[in-house]
Amino acid sequence: MTASISASAREVSHSRIRELAEIAIGMEGVLRLYFGESSLPTPDFIKEAAVRALRDGYTYYTSNAGLLSTRQALARYYARVHEVDLDPEREIVVTTSGVQALNVAIRCVLDPDDEAIVLTPAWPNGSSIVQMANARPVQVAHPLCGPRYGIDFDALEAAVTPRTRMLLYTSPSNPTGWVATVEEQTRLLELARRHGLWLLADEVYERLYYGGRRLGGVVPSILKLAAREDPVIVVQSFSKSYCMTGWRVGWIAARKDLAARATQLNEFIISHAPSFAQRAAETALQDGEEAVAGMLSRYIDNRDFCLQALRAMPGLEVPEASGAFYLFPKVHGLKDSFEFCRRLLLETKVGLAPGVAFGEGGEGSVRICYAAERRILEPAMQKLGEFLQKWAG
Ligand SMILES: Cc1ncc(COP(=O)(O)O)c(C=O)c1O
Repeated sequence: MTASISASAREVSHSRIRELAEIAIGMEGVLRLYFGESSLPTPDFIKEAAVRALRDGYTYYTSNAGLLSTRQALARYYARVHEVDLDPEREIVVTTSGVQALNVAIRCVLDPDDEAIVLTPAWPNGSSIVQMANARPVQVAHPLCGPRYGIDFDALEAAVTPRTRMLLYTSPSNPTGWVATVEEQTRLLELARRHGLWLLADEVYERLYYGGRRLGGVVPSILKLAAREDPVIVVQSFSKSYCMTGWRVGWIAARKDLAARATQLNEFIISHAPSFAQRAAETALQDGEEAVAGMLSRYIDNRDFCLQALRAMPGLEVPEASGAFYLFPKVHGLKDSFEFCRRLLLETKVGLAPGVAFGEGGEGSVRICYAAERRILEPAMQKLGEFLQKWAG
């Protein structure tokens, strides 16, 4: 007998974005637009805060919920930005990234064989983490209603079974750039209340919003609509808002019982986020508005440049995208987006993420991350256009 990997681990789907990236790794000169990461570095004032924190002795363990000062900074951020009052000691848990926030939140609400409804196309990690909890993701696709993605509430109702425990949505969305309206959020909350489900909102792209009255406004958080005793969990991260992907700091804002349990489980998963990174994250929250504004003006220019280029290409339908840093054009007649992206990569060195990687409703589209530099985006759009001419013809 040989020792084997568990069936439950083997069942976890592999990432098709990573599969594409693995092909690209061996190639030179690839215009990489397949990962969800900005080319901008972390702003200097945040790096300096981390250095100061190290000098000040933030090199020890912290509480499993994170430093109280970080949670207090988060509570102040919610009061200032969303006019939402949160209790930093009971309703906020600092995590070691958005991925870990998702992980511990999902672990707190799902038992083996439970079901979690996931609105897709979506970043695949949510569904994979559900599988890692030995539960079952049930995908319900966002329909494309004219130029905008929407929510099929009838399909959602039909997907609820006695085993359903949770509903996960992402707004602003990776990969579509869709942003839930207040009305959509209200209906999601109402559905969750009525069926006794946890509503898990992934809001990691909340600062990347171009639809507000002014650039720099935030997407309305579900926390603003929900009462504190509602079964709502918000997953958040410093990665996208402050260009801190490598730092691995995020947070959860949730009902007290969930926050307490997540704090306890953190001990056995990761214990807590690095102490000096938590201190730097506080500085990002306190002094980060100017950096966010600079980042947004760059992204909106990039988005508009790509939108204009894509809308002139043959055989593409380009939905509205008012948040995050992605466009998700649909390629007419496309049945195998992985093969499309593989050929595009090998023939033109343009690396896009295949829509199939994002689950139900994603096949037939490709994801473009426009948080890259213009010197990458411009030739990438040119080459994609030429490739599509050949593809369509
Ligand atoms: C929708 C979504 N949620 C969460 C994350 C996690 O971000 P991080 O783990 O870097 O905090 C990402 C990263 O790409 C994402 O796209």
